Amino acid sequence: MEKEKLLFYNEYEAFYEMAEKSIAFQNFCYDSFGQDFSQDGFSDVEQIDIVLSYIPIKEDIHILDIGCGNGKMLGYLQKKTGAFIHGFDYSQKAIATARSLFAQKSDFSEGIIGEIEYPSNSFDAVVSMDTMYFSKDMSAFVGQIKRWLKPDGILLVGYQEGELIPRTFDEYTTELAKALKNNGMNFETRNITKQTYELLKTKREAAIIHRAEFENEGHIQWFDMLMMQTKWAEESYQQFEKAMARYIYIARK
Ligand SMILES: C[S@@+](CC[C@H](N)C(=O)[O-])C[C@H]1O[C@@H](n2cnc3c(N)ncnc32)[C@H](O)[C@@H]1O
Repeated sequence: MEKEKLLFYNEYEAFYEMAEKSIAFQNFCYDSFGQDFSQDGFSDVEQIDIVLSYIPIKEDIHILDIGCGNGKMLGYLQKKTGAFIHGFDYSQKAIATARSLFAQKSDFSEGIIGEIEYPSNSFDAVVSMDTMYFSKDMSAFVGQIKRWLKPDGILLVGYQEGELIPRTFDEYTTELAKALKNNGMNFETRNITKQTYELLKTKREAAIIHRAEFENEGHIQWFDMLMMQTKWAEESYQQFEKAMARYIYIARK
């Protein structure tokens, strides 16, 4: 498939180009998320530490990140676990950066969800923060991930409803929950909607603090994007919760 025709492909190329160069964005990430993982999603270090707490500690562990961007979150997981890290993303720019930043015990691929393939029983943990939405057939994709997992492997997903995909009733009614059930995968969830609302406020404040830096770098359009992304911070939590929800799914093969 031609990548340029996929949703947001050109936007993500531009985003990862900016993320590599922009000190304003790197400072913004530290201030809002506690770590610079070049987040375009909503994962702060607290959420990644929740993910980390489910990753088994053992020798020769293999972790795959779906939608790994420039690999910085995987780099953090590698530092904490000593794992061999695997990641794929459709962004050529992001994968080039990931390869240059994390050359040891790593395997980064330019790949498209639904097209890329890995051998069965490859990974102890598969992580995907804010990326499952881009699969055209989530049930088929979850089936593929299940095959990639080792028998005792674990799937960890950061999943948000209300923007790219509509809000459903609760964590058992989401498209991801249905896809997990269709594939016979048991799961538990952490509802982090309230923390996400607080994080939006922190993100908005951090963006405003770094506005002049974005402007001086010629990156003011990315400041504007951050203001758009965080507009819910201007509403009450009650309003936010009606429209949005965020969960971490922990699913077992
Ligand atoms: C919302 S961002 C999340 C990035 C990162 N995981 C995070 O939490 O900040 C979605 C990521 O998925 C990638 N992506 C989007 N559509 C894709 C597709 N069809 N195939 C592979 N990667 C895709 C983007 O390049 C981007 O890195």
